[in-house]
Order: sequence, then C-alpha cells, then structure tokens
Amino acid sequence: MRSRAVIIGTGSALPSRVMTNRDLEALVDTSDEWIRTRTGILERRIASEGENNSDLATRAALNALEMAGVKPDEIDLIIVATLTPDMPMPSVACLVQKNIGAFRAGVLDISVTCSGFIYGLSIADKFIQADRKLKILVIGSEVLSRRVNWQDRTTCVLFGDGAGAAVLAGTREDRGILSTHLHGDGRLWELLAIRGLGTAVPADEEMLSRGWQYIQMQGKDVFKHAVKALEAVTWEAMDAVGWKTDALDMVFCHQANMRILDFVRERLGLSEDKLFINIHKYGNTSAASIPIALDEANRGGRLFAGANVLMMAFGGGFTWGSLAMRW
Ligand code: UT7
Repeated sequence: MRSRAVIIGTGSALPSRVMTNRDLEALVDTSDEWIRTRTGILERRIASEGENNSDLATRAALNALEMAGVKPDEIDLIIVATLTPDMPMPSVACLVQKNIGAFRAGVLDISVTCSGFIYGLSIADKFIQADRKLKILVIGSEVLSRRVNWQDRTTCVLFGDGAGAAVLAGTREDRGILSTHLHGDGRLWELLAIRGLGTAVPADEEMLSRGWQYIQMQGKDVFKHAVKALEAVTWEAMDAVGWKTDALDMVFCHQANMRILDFVRERLGLSEDKLFINIHKYGNTSAASIPIALDEANRGGRLFAGANVLMMAFGGGFTWGSLAMRW
C-alpha cells in the first residue's frame, strides 16, 4: 500500500480579547440582530497590540506538537497559510521556526486566503506520499483585524483573528488523506481583495484615501460564487472517494457565513451534528478557520479513529478546495 499522510496532532490559539456584536454597534451603524441573522456571528477574537500573527501561529504549533508527541527538531517542513503575515519578509513560517526551534525544517508561506489550510494539507500530503518518514507542520493563521476598515460595516463585522495547526506524518495504514481537490479563478479577484500594501500600488495618500489597505468585498457576489463552488467541490471529493452522505462522520466547511454553512448542509442532506460550527464564537478567520474547528472537534472528542472527514473552503482570489480523509 502507498504511504498516506495522517494528522497526529492538532492545536489552536485565539486572542483572549473578545469583541461582541454589541461592541460593534458602538463603532458602526449595525445591530446585533443584523449580524446574527445575516451571518450567524455573535462575537470574534481580536489580537491585542503587539500580539502578532506569528505569535498565534507559534502557540497553535506548540499545542499541535505537544498532542502529536513530536519535538520541534523532528519537523521537516513548516507551511503557514496566511493573508496577514507579520511583514512581507521574512515569512511567518520562518518566524515560527525560530520561535519553536525547528531548525531542521524548510519554511514556506502560502497565500491562498480562506482555502489556505486545505492547500497546505494537500502540499504536505504530496511530500509525505513521496517520503513516509517526513513530519510536516501545517498552520493557518490570521490577524485580519489589522486589515479591516473599522468604519466599513459591510466587512468589519465579519472577521476575526486566530490560528490553528496540524502535525502530519506518514502511515502505511488504510487511513489519512484520501483525496484533495484545489481550484482557483483569478478573473474574479476584484470581488474580494486588499488592493494596497503590495508592490503594485504606492503606499501613498491616494491609496489610503481609497481604503486599499483594507479588505474590500462585494459580499453578495462572493456569496453566490461561494455556494456554487463549495457545492461542486464537495461532490468532487465525495465522488473521488466513493462516499455518499451517510458515510460522512464530520464535515469542516470554512466558517464564512452561517447561511453558507446551512446551504452546504442542506445540499449534502447532512444532519446538524455532523457539520462542525464555531462561526458564532470566532467569525471568519480565513485560513485559520478550518484548523481551529478541527482542533476544537479533536479536543472535544468529536473525531474518532476511522472517522470519515470532509473539508471544504472558498475564499478571495478566488480559491476553493476540498479534502477527504479517514481520521
Ligand atoms: O471568506 C471568504 C468568503 N466570504 C464569504 O463567503 C462572504 C460571502 N458574503 C456574505 O456572507 C454576505 O454577503 C454578507 C454577510 C457579507 C452580507 O450579507 P447580505 O445578505 O448579502 O447583505 P447585503 O450586502 O446585500 O446588504 C443588505 C443590506 C444593505 O442595505 P440596503 O442596501 O438593503 O439598504 C447593506 O447596506 O444590509 C446593509 N448592511 C448592513 N446593515 C447593518 C450591510 N452590512 C451591514 C451591517 N449592519 N453590518
């Protein structure tokens, strides 16, 4: 049998500062009722001053390593999925490597927005299929609160900060990652973007006055594309591994909007207990959303050996993807 990648430890880290919908009512013209009914979000976590992406990523990584019983110097590769790195150079993966002392590890940041953790797991899977002895740390980590315009009610109510991580190793057993499907469509980039702070646009007064340092989103259009892509990529994964809905034990969909999660659950014909939900506590944490959910489910005893697990995500770019695995 070929070697497969299994997750042997998960971890997460969330800032302690909670921002409720009521807190947002004091900032912008919004209401707890609007946010709850349109998104399902009740509160989100916000990084404190001086608390950076790499700090959250490091905490999540250490938690995952502890659960896996793996020492930092056993890690061969660190992959960090993020759209909010501490700085353009070095990567968050480099900073995590330094913080945890994983000096044998290669270091790689990937920029795939909300689908980043699935892309990261997929890359790790390919490495481990080629060499069963590798141990790889995959992290999704975001400090979106620093890329949100706190005067724009159409975006600031949606996002939150946090990090999640997984340690992957190889096995010859009949479990682990069974299939991955990755997609993108760059033609639609303008519907969800941070246009400034790269090298294309000067960081000047004009850029700031346009709000291009912040996330800008055409929410309704993104919603329409998200549900279509998520449904398609879900069935793509199910077909690839030959699963029908009743084979599923736990589903992790990117936590962007409760209405999107309900849509996915209805289309799959899935019972409520099988779709993991934590959007009410953390909002949309982009690349961190699935690994935080995975860690909560794992530590909460909702995953068991042999469980059939499905993940899917959609985000800016656009990017989307799915992953099927036997736990
Ligand atoms: O993570 C990457 C993927 N992201 C997503 O998948 C997000 C997809 N989009 C969404 O989740 C939803 O489109 C939103 C939650 C962003 C918005 O919900 P919506 O039902 O599409 O609302 P809308 O944008 O059509 O706005 C409806 C109304 C508008 O007022 P008018 O024009 O009808 O008078 C908005 O101005 O709600 C207004 N509105 C708000 N009102 C109170 C927009 N944001 C707010 C707000 N509070 N925070």
